[in-house]
Amino acid sequence: MAKTDPVETTEAQLAVHWKEEDYYYPPVSFIAQANVTDASILERFSEKNFPECYKEYADLLTWYKYWGKTLDTSNPPFWKWFVGGELNACYNCVDRHLPKNRNKTALHFVPEPENEPIQHITYQELWVRVNELAAVLRDFCGLKRGDRVTLHLPMTAELPITMLACARLGIIHSQVFSGFSGQACGERIADSQSRVLITMDAYYRAGKLLDHKQLADIAADKAQSENAAPEKVLVWQRHPGKYSSQTALVTGRDFIVNDLLPQYRGRRVEPEHMLATDPLFLMYTSGSTGRPKACQHSTGGYLAYVAGTSKYIQDIHPEDVYWCMADIGWITGHSYIVYGPLALGASSVVYEGVPTHPDAGRSWRIAEELGVNIFHTSPTAIRALRRAGEDIPARYNYHFKHMTTVGEPIEPEVWRWYYEVVGKKEAVIVDTWWQTENGGFLCSTVPAIAPMKPGSAGPGVPGIYPVIYDDEGKEIPAGAGQAGNICIRNPWPGLMQTIWGDPERMTRQYFERYCKDKKSTDWHDWPYLAGDGAVHAADGYFRILGRIDDVINVAGHRLGTKEIESAALTVPEVAEAAVVPVPDELKGRVPELYVSLKPGFEASPELSAKIAAVIAEQIGPIAKPKHVWIVPDMPKTRSGKIMRRILTAVSTKGNTGDITTLANPDVVEIIRSTVQKGT
Ligand code: WT7
Repeated sequence: MAKTDPVETTEAQLAVHWKEEDYYYPPVSFIAQANVTDASILERFSEKNFPECYKEYADLLTWYKYWGKTLDTSNPPFWKWFVGGELNACYNCVDRHLPKNRNKTALHFVPEPENEPIQHITYQELWVRVNELAAVLRDFCGLKRGDRVTLHLPMTAELPITMLACARLGIIHSQVFSGFSGQACGERIADSQSRVLITMDAYYRAGKLLDHKQLADIAADKAQSENAAPEKVLVWQRHPGKYSSQTALVTGRDFIVNDLLPQYRGRRVEPEHMLATDPLFLMYTSGSTGRPKACQHSTGGYLAYVAGTSKYIQDIHPEDVYWCMADIGWITGHSYIVYGPLALGASSVVYEGVPTHPDAGRSWRIAEELGVNIFHTSPTAIRALRRAGEDIPARYNYHFKHMTTVGEPIEPEVWRWYYEVVGKKEAVIVDTWWQTENGGFLCSTVPAIAPMKPGSAGPGVPGIYPVIYDDEGKEIPAGAGQAGNICIRNPWPGLMQTIWGDPERMTRQYFERYCKDKKSTDWHDWPYLAGDGAVHAADGYFRILGRIDDVINVAGHRLGTKEIESAALTVPEVAEAAVVPVPDELKGRVPELYVSLKPGFEASPELSAKIAAVIAEQIGPIAKPKHVWIVPDMPKTRSGKIMRRILTAVSTKGNTGDITTLANPDVVEIIRSTVQKGT
C-alpha cells in the first residue's frame, strides 16, 4: 500500500486491504430441511434462462389469469413483468391459506409492555379483520382501486391488516415510518395525493405510551399547506375501546376505526382482480437530491419476487415462526414481515417496541416463547444487543435455524458474535444486500448451497447478475482487488416500476450513468446503478462498502444529506449548513452538522440544540445530528463550494490534507479547535 494519506484514500480503496475472511459452512441440520439444497437453482436462474426463469417465482402465487408475456422491455427502463396476468396480493397472503391453514397463526403481535398478552392472529381471524376494514375503506371512505392512502402506523397488528385491506381493494398504500415526524408524513401525503390518512392514537416505545395522533394533525396541516389535505383521518385505538391520545378529534375529518368497525361486522369484500403491472404500494426513500421520492412497487412482479426470495434465501416453510425485527415502515418490513412470509403461509412476528426493553433478554424471551426459528435483523440492532449483554442469549432456550442481517455493512467481529452467541453456531446466516428501490434481495448466499463469509453479502441471488464498473464504465473483474460502482445488469421482477410522479428521475438516477444506448430496447444496454461502492472478490462474493452519493446510512436506513441541510436552513439564524457522516459504534454512521450563522448572531449551546430539535421535528429523531458545530465559516474552494471532505476529516479526527487551495484555509484550524473543545 503506497499511499496512506487519509484524504486521498477513499473508503473503497482502504477496503480492499481488509483481510479475506474464512468461510463458515451451513450446519448439516439446516441443509437437511432447506427449501433448496442443490445447485441446479443457479443453473435454472442463469442468464441463458432469463427472463423465463422468473416463472418459477410467479408460480408460487395464485393467479386469476395467467400472464402472456414474462418480460416486456419495450419502454426502457420501465420494465413490465408478467404482462396481462391478474392476481390480488391480499388473496395470496390470506384467503388462499384458509382451506388448509385457517387455524394457524398468521401474525404474532407482541406488545412492548411485557404484561400485555401476545395476540396470536390466525389466518381466519386475519381474513375477517381485513374484510371488515376493507368494507370501511370502500363503503365509509369511498376509496377505490388506484386511490392512494397514507399510513402512519406503528408496529402493531393493525399495520399489516391495513396494508392487506388496501391491497384487497387495489388501493395503493404508502406507509410512512411511525418514527418520522408529522411534517415528513404530511409531505408524503401531498406528494402521493393520498385521499385518506390512517394512523393510531398511541403506541409503546421504550416503556412510554407515545401520543401519536398529534402527529396526524401536523401531517394534515402540512398536506393542507400544499393543497392536499386528506379527506379523512382514520385513527386506530392502541387499546380498543379507549382513546389514548391527548389530542382532540377534528369533527368531520377524524374517525375512530374501532368505532366504525362494528357497523361492518361480518362484511366480506371480494378481492379486486388487479393487473400484475398495477401498483401495490409506494415506499419513500432518500436520494441525493431534494425531497424524498416514492418508489412505486408492482403487484405481480413484486409479490413474485418477495415470495421467491422468502422461500429460497430466507428458507421460509409454512411451519416456520419467522421474526424480522425491522419496522414495517421500511421496505424490509413490507417484503419480509408482511408480503413474503404471508404469501408463503408462515407465521410472522410483529413486535411493537425496542428489542432491549425492559432488558437485554427481551428479544430472546420472545424467541423462546414463540418458538421463533428464523430471525432477521440489522447490524445496528446486533451491535445494540451485544452491548447490552454479550452472553445473555445463552441463558435462553431458543433455537434459530436461520438468521439474516440487512441494511448496512456488518463488521466481521459483530458477524461472529451474531453467529456464535445469538445463533449458538446452529444457524446459517445470510447477509442480504438490497435497497428500497429493489423490492427484495440482490446479493446474498443461497443458504444451504454456498458458505458464509463474514462481512461479505455474497454473489447475486438467483436471477440477479451484478457487475462492478469503474467511473469510465469499464467492468472491474472479480478478484481485481479494486472497488467500483456495483450495478445489476438485468431487470428483475422486484425492481420498482418508477418514481411516483417523476419517471424522468427513475431514468436519470439509476440508468443514465451506464446506459449503453438510450434508443435500445434490449435490456443488456440498461444496467441499474445501485449507488453503492463494492469490491468483487475472486470467489464471486461482493463486499458492499457504502453509498457513493450524498446519502448517509444511519442504522441501516438512508437519509439524504440535503434533506437534513435544508431542515437546518429553516432555522432563521442559519446561513449555511453541511452534513457529514461520522462512524458510530452502534448505528454504523450518524450525521454531524456544521453550520455558519447569518451576521449578527452568536454561537451558543442553546442554538445548537435548537437546530438539532428542528431537524428532529421536520424529519424525525433518526435524523438528529450527533453534534451541531457552529463555525465562523465553512471551508470553501475558490469557486465557493463547501469542502465536505475537510469537515469529515475534522469530525473523524483524520488528516485534512492539503488545504492551501482553499479560499479560506485559516478557518480549518478554527473549526478543528471548536470541535476539539466540544468533545
Ligand atoms: C442501502 C439501502 C433494503 C434494506 C434496508 C435498507 C445499504 C443494505 C446492506 C448489506 C451492506 C447494505 C446499502 C444500500 N445496505 N443492505 N447487507 N450490506 N450495505 O434499505 O434504506 O433503501 O438502504 O443500505 O448502502 O444502498 P435502504
